Amino acid sequence: MPSNSAPLSFDIKPNTNPMPETDRLAAFENLGFGTLFTDHMAVIRWSEGKGWHSAEITARAPFPIDPAASVLHYAQEIFEGMKAYRTADGRAVLFRPEENARRFNESARRMAMPDLPEADFLAAVEKLVAIDAKWIPKAEGSSLYLRPFMFASETFLGVRPSKEYIFCVIASPVGPYFKGGAKPVSIWVSQDYTRAAPGGTGAAKCGGNYAASLVAQAEAYAKGCDQVVFLDAAEHKWVEELGGMNVFFVMEDGSIVTPPLGGTILPGITRKSLIALAREEGVTVNEKPYSFDEWKADAASGRLKEAFACGTAAVVAAIGTVKYPQGEFQIGGGETGPLTTRLRDALVGIQRGQSNDRHGWIHVIDGV
Ligand code: PLP
Ligand code: COI
Repeated sequence: MPSNSAPLSFDIKPNTNPMPETDRLAAFENLGFGTLFTDHMAVIRWSEGKGWHSAEITARAPFPIDPAASVLHYAQEIFEGMKAYRTADGRAVLFRPEENARRFNESARRMAMPDLPEADFLAAVEKLVAIDAKWIPKAEGSSLYLRPFMFASETFLGVRPSKEYIFCVIASPVGPYFKGGAKPVSIWVSQDYTRAAPGGTGAAKCGGNYAASLVAQAEAYAKGCDQVVFLDAAEHKWVEELGGMNVFFVMEDGSIVTPPLGGTILPGITRKSLIALAREEGVTVNEKPYSFDEWKADAASGRLKEAFACGTAAVVAAIGTVKYPQGEFQIGGGETGPLTTRLRDALVGIQRGQSNDRHGWIHVIDGV
């Protein structure tokens, strides 16, 4: 797929009808996840032969979309999730945004979509955060969630990669992902549905993976659970990941187990960061298959001390209760365990600029 090499220049068109400040501040009082949006969006278009073009920061508005646009039929769509934070000393920062840019292109390749040069991805995100900087909430636990995405916009019903795409970034001030805030979550082990099979799209962040997970997620809600956890497609045995998070297990000897990346789960940036932080603390982290049978047995014997889910939206959430068709069990007495708390605090401290960023994970947006 052709991709331009010179950095794109963005046309900046400020919104002439932004949300009044009093309304914005009132909305900040009660932040949930993904319901409130900022005044602007970043848009870049791609067409065959021309590559990426028409980069702009403009008022957030609906896209006119032809009913035959191929995304509406064949779901050629990918996305990312990242956050901007306002640090106590007033900086606007992103956490490892180049990792999102890289993973976005890995998803693009899997879905036969064009690469977006990382510099253009980052420029789109930074320019959007800059123009909407007043939308970064400051309260503890809140942030500006950024959603870069790309979809096939060609008007064509044939089944082949589209010849036109729209890349867009929108931004949403958010509070906690789970309604219960920092309380441990409950999860439902899906027995009837799997998320991704070997050779499929599990490692790509494509909308189709989430569409396929919704019936299992709805089942989880019906069972009174916050999230669904999927087992592998081949043997229905190995724990893979949650609908929108990776999963970790803390054993009684202090070591951690997390399912390995093998093409069927999303290579989470939070996952990768927590593995690094844990290893630096001297914790042994085993990226190895862990079965649901082991999970049940280890919870019963007390060998399993803690379990947690992690991701950009959810940050780090202890798993308190696990339900499955034949029963349920608790982990750590249903409370958040000490290693989960320590790792969450270490990660959040770096993300919010409160602790020393010795890894260079924080990306400061200049002049914002
Ligand atoms: N797994 C899935 C299916 C996800 O949707 C997410 C969230 O983005 C993650 C894992 C965690 O990835 P990250 O830590 O990069 O947000
Ligand atoms: C994220 O954490 O950014 C995701 O995309 C997951 C989704 C459940 C919101």
